Amino acid sequence: MKTSLFFAAGVLLLPTLTTAVVDISWNVSNVPASGLTHIGFPFSIAKAPHEIGYFFLQQFTFVNDEPHISGQIGLQPRPDSSKNGFTIGAVFSSYIPDATTNDTNCHIGARGGAGVTCSVDFLGWYDAGYTLHVYKARGTMWTATVVNNKTDLETHVGSYTLPSDKGGIAGSQQGFVEYTPWDPGSPTYTSVTFETPVTVTPGSEGSLGDAREYGVARGRLTFRVRGLQKGLKSALGSNK
Ligand SMILES: *[C@@H]1O[C@H](CO)[C@@H](O)[C@H](O)[C@H]1NC(C)=O
Ligand SMILES: *[C@@H]1O[C@H](CO)[C@@H](O)[C@H](O)[C@H]1NC(C)=O
Ligand SMILES: *[C@@H]1O[C@H](CO)[C@@H](O)[C@H](O)[C@H]1NC(C)=O
Repeated sequence: MKTSLFFAAGVLLLPTLTTAVVDISWNVSNVPASGLTHIGFPFSIAKAPHEIGYFFLQQFTFVNDEPHISGQIGLQPRPDSSKNGFTIGAVFSSYIPDATTNDTNCHIGARGGAGVTCSVDFLGWYDAGYTLHVYKARGTMWTATVVNNKTDLETHVGSYTLPSDKGGIAGSQQGFVEYTPWDPGSPTYTSVTFETPVTVTPGSEGSLGDAREYGVARGRLTFRVRGLQKGLKSALGSNK
């Protein structure tokens, strides 16, 4: 059976073959009322299969767009295609209607609805650790980059401009491990480590909730989640 659970939180139900199998919440403390001007989400996906399927992502909400989920950013493994490294995809979206873009990495539309989606494939190494940064470029224009933690090499993911009433990034949301196309037999083994979000705002600290088996994965796949050292949560899973 093909099921969509991604929007099961009640925002919007789309018929899609994408299914969330793990969820994890994040918080940042002492966020100004106007929201954060920067947030970074570190991920390690060293053991992810080099194929289309998994999407490791964190969502965020902009001030004045509550209680909606305003957007997401994450990493998608890709098939190997180069001798100079492995290909990894980064995706940055907004679901806010009237979001606009001139960025060549971006197009109008997000998950079959309104918004903007930006994506880039870059060469990297799975064991590097990557930090996905979202920051205010100017006005209500937001830019995302992916930074290789080992080399500090930064890749532009995309930019979009939000309607003028939207503020900075609010202090909590949740992320997911998703798998596409969903079929209970399809996911191959993976593991991912979510780290606490980072921000340049002085006095603000990130934290992570416990990752949980989510939706149809609960009790059906062997997705396991565990806390590592402080601030690191990993999700491991496969159906075999
Ligand atoms: C796109 O480019 C046009 C023309 O330069 C500019 O007026 C507009 O503000 C730009 N939009 C975004 C979203 O950057
Ligand atoms: C990657 O860099 C971020 C931001 O500096 C840091 O918070 C995180 O701990 C680093 N993770 C790894 C695996 O190096
Ligand atoms: C984030 O904050 C909310 C509300 O204050 C709380 O319910 C939740 O447990 C917090 N989560 C984390 C990861 O600290």
